Amino acid sequence: MAVTIKSEREIELMRKAGEILARTHEELAAAIRPGMTTMDIDRLGEKIIRGFGCIPSFKNYNGYPASICVSVNDEVVHGIPNKRRHLEEGDIVSLDAGVIYKGYHSDAARTHAVGTVSPEAEKLMEVTRQCFFEGIKFAKAGNHLNDISSAIQAYAEKFGYGVVRDLVGHGIGTHLHEDPEVPNFAQKRKGIRLEPGMTLAIEPMINAGRPDVIWMDDDWTVKTEDGSLSAHYENTVLITEGEPEILSLRL
Ligand code: MF3
Ligand code: CO
Repeated sequence: MAVTIKSEREIELMRKAGEILARTHEELAAAIRPGMTTMDIDRLGEKIIRGFGCIPSFKNYNGYPASICVSVNDEVVHGIPNKRRHLEEGDIVSLDAGVIYKGYHSDAARTHAVGTVSPEAEKLMEVTRQCFFEGIKFAKAGNHLNDISSAIQAYAEKFGYGVVRDLVGHGIGTHLHEDPEVPNFAQKRKGIRLEPGMTLAIEPMINAGRPDVIWMDDDWTVKTEDGSLSAHYENTVLITEGEPEILSLRL
């Protein structure tokens, strides 16, 4: 599939999808507390998304059974909500959500502290978020995809962290996953040239330890192989002639 350039009309719909997703994440962030289950988060998230008149895009995507991916501590991404899994003080929890508004997708993830967490966990979350912002410094017309990928990796590795290699960001639009793939690590090729109207989901997944990950028997949940903590931060971004527009974040 070719990389698509969105029209002004499509961009307007993706702005709306992104704004709704940003609000969804804000409401979920405010609800996180020790004792709640990962299923509670999924139920609440689905209710918020449907309340905005949107469809949760992950539900039934390739058989994924929930609306929100909830990944705790050494779980990297795609954790499946479970009514017996309670969040505990000191956990970190990554929430990944997607919405469809009038046929257009937005995709975003945040990692939150549950109560008070270790300084190591705080640092990992903060650096992972900053990896995204380091990456999008290069997200403008005329640059190449690898400028973003390299910047993310370089920043994470300054802190001795492991950049996950087995999962990548992606183009997004009328489909959740469109071309191009957006790796969080340097490629040998410079990749496609960025053009105004491209929309990308840029999503660093950063481990406190080694980059290696393993898949659980549910065939979804991805964990760090070495048991180290992992964080995830993602937004849907519009490429313009100048500064990128972060569609799924309200500043
Ligand atoms: N942000 C994730 C991704 O880009 C969400 C997809 S998970 C699934 O792959 F549940 F939808 F499958
Ligand atoms: Co994504």
